[in-house]
Amino acid sequence: MNRKYRKTVIAGNWKMNKTPTETKEFMAAFKGMLPKGRWCDIALCVPAVCIPAAVRAMRETRVGIGAENCNANASGAYTGEIATNMLVDAGCKYVIIGHSERRAMGETDADVNAKVLAALEAGLTPIMCCGESLEQREAGITEEWITMQIKLGLQNVTEDKIRKVVIAYEPIWAIGTGRTATPEQAQEVCESIRAVVRKLYSSKNARAVSILYGGSMNEKNAYELLAQPDIDGGLIGGASLVPEKFVQIIEAANQPIV
Ligand code: PGA
Repeated sequence: MNRKYRKTVIAGNWKMNKTPTETKEFMAAFKGMLPKGRWCDIALCVPAVCIPAAVRAMRETRVGIGAENCNANASGAYTGEIATNMLVDAGCKYVIIGHSERRAMGETDADVNAKVLAALEAGLTPIMCCGESLEQREAGITEEWITMQIKLGLQNVTEDKIRKVVIAYEPIWAIGTGRTATPEQAQEVCESIRAVVRKLYSSKNARAVSILYGGSMNEKNAYELLAQPDIDGGLIGGASLVPEKFVQIIEAANQPIV
């Protein structure tokens, strides 16, 4: 983290978990134990049907609610899809874009880019995900792969908008596997992502962009990961489903470091 130049963001990704009723229960418990820490932004990205309950419960708190996907089109014949202005109207502040689980369902870098542009246009904070597979890591092409995903995902994102983008580095082999990247591995890639942003924009902008790590981050390993200079927060799946665990990760983000 580097609180001097950029925000620390702790974001939950519920994936396909919890009903609206369970959302209400989670939020009631979570609200009761929310740390007073001043440092980090907190986001909870939930299934679309849970957004109203989550927004209602978190009104007047520092927790921003987000969606897990969006459609890049403004409206029209896209059965089952949700447009960014609908998310805004429902009270969302964030949207996860390009999660590897969605890429596995066919989402391309061009789709990710269109969604990032649509989210920014609507005033949402996109949490744009990137990450390599185990084969890619073992083939030694992690940096090239991530660079490509970042460059394609950020196409036509203008200089004045780049600071509104949050980037999440999520190695696919670490997601939901309990196999976290080491703080050094995660730092190395997050640092290289910042270097790409620096090349595309400027050092000032690169310094201001929040880059999160995701992949089996939990209440036990969060402190060490967040202590890395280029890891500005976390995108948390499993551990965000349990209020006690998610709160402990937020507390790790409030640790007294520069
Ligand atoms: P995990 O998921 O924390 O359960 O590994 C992270 C994510 O997919 O965003």
